[in-house]
Amino acid sequence: MPIIVTRRGAQPKKVLSQCQRPSGWRGRFTLWSMNRRHSKLTDWGLEHLSIGSDDTILDAGCGGGRTVAKLADLASSGHVYGIDYSAASVATARKVNRQLIDAGRVKIQEASVSELPFADGTFDLVTAVETHFWWQDLSGGMREVFRVLKPGGRMAVIAEFYNGGRHAKYADRLARWTSMAVLDIDQHRAMFADAGFTGIEVDEDAGRGWIFVAGTKPR
Ligand SMILES: C[S@@+](CC[C@H](N)C(=O)[O-])C[C@H]1O[C@@H](n2cnc3c(N)ncnc32)[C@H](O)[C@@H]1O
Repeated sequence: MPIIVTRRGAQPKKVLSQCQRPSGWRGRFTLWSMNRRHSKLTDWGLEHLSIGSDDTILDAGCGGGRTVAKLADLASSGHVYGIDYSAASVATARKVNRQLIDAGRVKIQEASVSELPFADGTFDLVTAVETHFWWQDLSGGMREVFRVLKPGGRMAVIAEFYNGGRHAKYADRLARWTSMAVLDIDQHRAMFADAGFTGIEVDEDAGRGWIFVAGTKPR
């Protein structure tokens, strides 16, 4: 989502609210734009993961659904679910993944990360790209992700907004305008540990201002 460039006079709060919960035509425009702008960050983050061809994967806060498509490509005979609490995100993600949905390999549902509509121990992997900082109940969301992971399953957060990163100078402003949770790297580690994850791994591409944080649900 990185730099919020607004036209002179455009209201940054309005632009940001479309990133937090896209809606209407502005939301659809934002979703197509995020699908394009988050692609390289997503590819970089996913390179850190070993994804099995049969894996069952959830992309939480899936937005316009491009990450879902990338995951379905990597888990070439697996199943990928996307959830998002925005109806506009769900509609766009369904459009983007239409063929995979028709083939029965992808399912996109409207749901909050605070209340995931899945049984305990469903997923091998849960990804969250450029979304966790918007979750109203971040620790509750992390516990829900932990619940739906299989023992030995992994959760990965991939993001550009964190304190200490290249885009940190925007973080203060964003936090002032919104309810965004802009954490530093140690706070990300603590967020995973508090939810019960072990084997926490952090990588930072300081030049591009990208972080990858992952943890494993113990067996
Ligand atoms: C900045 S967009 C990123 C979308 C996508 N992951 C990407 O990389 O392009 C954040 C998305 O997270 C969703 N979101 C925010 N909070 C959420 C929550 N608590 N539960 C489910 N989805 C949420 C928003 O509706 C939005 O579609």
